[in-house]
Amino acid sequence: MSLPTPLPASHAVHQLRVVLWPGDAPVQVPVLPGQTLLQAALAQGVEWPRSCRNGTCRTCLGRLGQGRVRYSVEWPGLSAEEKAEGCVLPCVAHPLEDVSLLPP
Ligand code: FES
Repeated sequence: MSLPTPLPASHAVHQLRVVLWPGDAPVQVPVLPGQTLLQAALAQGVEWPRSCRNGTCRTCLGRLGQGRVRYSVEWPGLSAEEKAEGCVLPCVAHPLEDVSLLPP
């Protein structure tokens, strides 16, 4: 099995920096128009945890280290307090600017 070919960053709307484990160097991936953070990471071979992909199971829970997102569902499975603390569900989150995604 071969790894997916990285897409050129020139097609990206925003850049996503993913840290899979605390202390790891970030992996930078382009986020193409319409992609969620999870879709962008997976498209570049970054194996972020996931299951439902619709914002309910919380398997993909992470933290935003930088940047802002909007959600593709009205009620992602996060409390207002979790959102305020920087928690994010990458499977339903679209970047509004360059973002970094950290482990929870
Ligand atoms: S994969 Fe289930 S909430 Fe993201």
